[in-house]
Amino acid sequence: MIAYITLLKVIANKGTILSGTSILHHTRRLLIVAGTVMLTAFLLSANIHPVHAQLSRAAPEAPTGQATRPAAPVRSQMVVAAHPLAARAARQMLRDGGTAIDAAIAAQMVLNLVEPQSSGIGGGGFLLYWDAFQQQLLTVDGRETAPAEAGPDRFLNDDGTPIRWPDAVGTGRSIGVPGIVPMLEAVHGEFGRIEWGELFAPAIDLASNGFGVSPRLNLLLTGMGPDAFNEDARNYFFDNTGEARALGEVLKNPALARTLKQIATSGHRALRSGPIAKNIIAAASEPGVATITLNDLRAYESIQRRPVCVPYRSYSICGMGPPSSGGMTVGAILGLLEASDLGDQPNAAAIHMIIEAEKLSYADRNRYMADSDFVDVPAGLLDPDYLEERAQMIDPAQTMGRAEPGTPPDLETTPGTDASDENPGTSHISIIDQFGNAASLTTTIESAFGSRRMVSGFLLNNELTDFSFRPVDEGGRPVANRVEGGKRPRSSMSPTMVFDADGNLWAVLGSPGGSRIILYVVKALVAMIDWNMDPQAASALGTFGSRNGPAELEHGADMDRFASELEALGHEIARPSMTSGLHIIRVTPDGLLGGVDPRREGAAIGD
Ligand code: DON
Repeated sequence: MIAYITLLKVIANKGTILSGTSILHHTRRLLIVAGTVMLTAFLLSANIHPVHAQLSRAAPEAPTGQATRPAAPVRSQMVVAAHPLAARAARQMLRDGGTAIDAAIAAQMVLNLVEPQSSGIGGGGFLLYWDAFQQQLLTVDGRETAPAEAGPDRFLNDDGTPIRWPDAVGTGRSIGVPGIVPMLEAVHGEFGRIEWGELFAPAIDLASNGFGVSPRLNLLLTGMGPDAFNEDARNYFFDNTGEARALGEVLKNPALARTLKQIATSGHRALRSGPIAKNIIAAASEPGVATITLNDLRAYESIQRRPVCVPYRSYSICGMGPPSSGGMTVGAILGLLEASDLGDQPNAAAIHMIIEAEKLSYADRNRYMADSDFVDVPAGLLDPDYLEERAQMIDPAQTMGRAEPGTPPDLETTPGTDASDENPGTSHISIIDQFGNAASLTTTIESAFGSRRMVSGFLLNNELTDFSFRPVDEGGRPVANRVEGGKRPRSSMSPTMVFDADGNLWAVLGSPGGSRIILYVVKALVAMIDWNMDPQAASALGTFGSRNGPAELEHGADMDRFASELEALGHEIARPSMTSGLHIIRVTPDGLLGGVDPRREGAAIGD
């Protein structure tokens, strides 16, 4: 073992960059010209949708082109993250002898800067951590909480009707108490090897000296326009004529550098007292609404939850339990498919079966899943007999249309029908270190640029819009995912790890994508396990699935070839953009293989 590690360390010094877009730092003008050329090349290579047409305020995390990147195995350690600079910062920590949690923290802080639309210290996330030394899996909940004084009518108009989502997102109503820094600090305390303060050095350096604005950041800003943002954000993201920062423009964020320096020194305490806390409270305030208080900031704690693991084929698939619906819903879908032969490559019959399993599982998810510290989430939803009975409802010859929720064995009270709306700003980081530890972190500020309110250099989330806006359904039954003080909104985030029959780590994966995250993760799992695809092919594969509505086939992707067969089975077909960000690492006998979602700007970097 020692010899093996030594060998890996030797290889580690050489290093391999598998993929990624690099934006050079130069003079402003040169960069803008170079940037325009790069953007054109990026889009031409894209094979994809008309980018500007895709951008709208209703769908803020639109696709910004596709690129395919090669996969090659590395021996020792790997990071897959949504931006090359974040992956590099993480790799630096791994090379310095850090663990997967050290690397994840460095990547997260850089992502806050270079992919500000998706995640950051103003948000929350869920982390799976595989501790190779103890051979144990931890699942940690760093989800935002509702302020203690928040009530079920938070998203209702005076007449009792729900507020429209666009009218809630950019307001103080939507902002939850951030959880990502407390969570990362807690896990680092147990598993970190590099000193906490050092993990912030790459992000502080980039925030102070600047980074090149990426195509995706530029396009999302252009699509959203300056009026969507508060003053701090507007001044940072737009020039004084209202133009979004140009592609390749070197952007510095001294306010974020200052904030990160304080967190590097004082940890999450920097966010719950002093000037940053004061700024958060002021930026989140909204007349007449119970918004974040100092007590809320001080009361926040991340929570270690029990992992949700289900058998699928010869593997064990492990994910995040409530308040995320991810682990349980992915588990239920796979449980319903366990007895089905899905063939050895993508095919219409298998896609039909998967869609039907998804409909049944989303019906249950929508009714039963929420923060289990507040409502009773029936564990029977994953009971093998219950799933076998539900699987009988799947007809290979025709669609069931819309599925109804079932009655799991341990049900105590039936909650009302949910009406929450989730819109696409999230990022997924997968890491395996030289010791065999792994991190699967899905991190978010909810929709693109969160609440669009910037404070001390970072954006505050709009996570509370993941609650059901209606506290009771039409029959007067309380909805499980209604707003309550201190509660965490239901999530779809599905950081996942797969273990083989001997209990060895086999894959690390996850994705952004709002309530479609579950579809993306199921697609990738089936692609790798049933269809034997490598992680790059699994991530790039055209997306399909259903959230108990129409059968969704990714716009412009090769899955459209299955449309007529699915229509013949009675499916109503929708062709939305499906902007996943599936970041995968597979452990193979030849080494670690990365999968980077071609729909975003990520990179897999390993040694
Ligand atoms: O927690 C959730 O499920 C959502 N707030 C995640 C949002 C998201 O993934 C947006 N991604 N593009």
